Amino acid sequence: SVTRLWGGRFAGGPSEALARLSLSTHFDWRLARHDIAGSRAHARVLRAAGLLDDDELAGMLDGLDRLEADVVSGAFTPVLEDEDVHTALERGFIERVGPELGGRLRAGRSRNDQIATLVRMYLREQARLIAQEVLALVTALADQAQANIDVAMPGRTHLQHAQPVLLAHHLMAHAWPLVRDVERLRDWDRRADVSAYGSGALAGSSLGLDPEAVAADLGFSASVENSIDGTASRDVVAEFGFVTAMIGVDLSRLAEEIILWSTKEFSFVTLDDAFATGSSIMPQKKNPDIAELARGKSGRLIGDLAGLLTTLKGLPLAYNRDLQEDKEPVFDAVDTLQLLLPAFTGMVATLRFHRERMEELAPQGFSLATDIAEWLVRARVPFREAHEIAGACVRLCEERGIDLPDLTDADFTAISPHLTPAVREVLTVRGSLESRSGKGGTAPARVAEQLTRLRAAVADH
Ligand code: ARG
Repeated sequence: SVTRLWGGRFAGGPSEALARLSLSTHFDWRLARHDIAGSRAHARVLRAAGLLDDDELAGMLDGLDRLEADVVSGAFTPVLEDEDVHTALERGFIERVGPELGGRLRAGRSRNDQIATLVRMYLREQARLIAQEVLALVTALADQAQANIDVAMPGRTHLQHAQPVLLAHHLMAHAWPLVRDVERLRDWDRRADVSAYGSGALAGSSLGLDPEAVAADLGFSASVENSIDGTASRDVVAEFGFVTAMIGVDLSRLAEEIILWSTKEFSFVTLDDAFATGSSIMPQKKNPDIAELARGKSGRLIGDLAGLLTTLKGLPLAYNRDLQEDKEPVFDAVDTLQLLLPAFTGMVATLRFHRERMEELAPQGFSLATDIAEWLVRARVPFREAHEIAGACVRLCEERGIDLPDLTDADFTAISPHLTPAVREVLTVRGSLESRSGKGGTAPARVAEQLTRLRAAVADH
């Protein structure tokens, strides 16, 4: 058959069942442009090695240009008999330049070094796009922090009221992990920035082809040190899968809070109509589907990573066909984030926060008790004793069904002579916020500085 890249040693063709199992064009066709770029670079090193003359090289490059135009326009697509993207493109190439010239291109390369290289090219491109989308989300969080810069809310641990914090501080606590995800993508790129071309099937090429020239041509800083590693390893793919899963997990934590915040019970936030959904039966419903899909898709992204790692586990060197199973999960991770991130960013950008509700709840649940204890420490009371005194204030309030600021001066002195009326200066949300003024704290001045640094981190990328 014209189309198969092997067959000389076989008496007959593959069974239909095998052909169907083996087929990968329905997912690897997205690598077609990178495959053609690889072929151009390969043709040039064939010329440099003296295996093509100038006319042959020109003919090949022209054929590849025409093939690429037809791929881009959709005039050329894989057929069922094309096992994979490489097979389909070789068929298209031979259809355009003839079997004599077309049959020379494959010398000294293997689908094993091709695919390892193309996946890296594709993922490096996608990593940059995903990073841009993540930074857009960070910017949406920074914008919300700025628009709500002085809004206080209940800070929680164990989901219980703990200490008041600024909403801006809380929102930026979701932004910094995303900044680190962008840094992870950038750092990952250093390891992805290596071409596997020249590795051949596993042992390298005997034809004097220069792997470094191909690498440079394809935008890589170097070619692999070891041809077996070049064709058999997929840790770079798995690492990409980790970063995409981590992005999913980071989104899911914010998603969960948005889901909670938009409940009647919390009433912290209202979703914009354009980023919420209704119910087919309950006319009043306004549902946070984007946040729920984000929470759900984080499971999918983790599954993609788990699938990748499981495929790699225990695989002997060098190439095994199992490695073809790396593509669907990692492509799924790319597609999932590219669907999810714009919707998620739109939802975050259009959230309306309810200042009054958040601020009303901020001091409730005795969230100022730590402030009493720390006020006592500043008055030289040992913290152990201060903790007991503040705890006694909470107990008395609970008995009477009142809040800490409702205690009278007499109540305070009865609990401890250290508790003078001056303690009231920290018994307000503002006082509490202002007092947490060390670097990284929720004091308004620190949070304003933090916002500046967050914006700078975005601008840096
Ligand atoms: N389609 C394969 C992959 O995705 C590359 C082809 C290698 N096939 C082979 N029989 N050596 O990994």
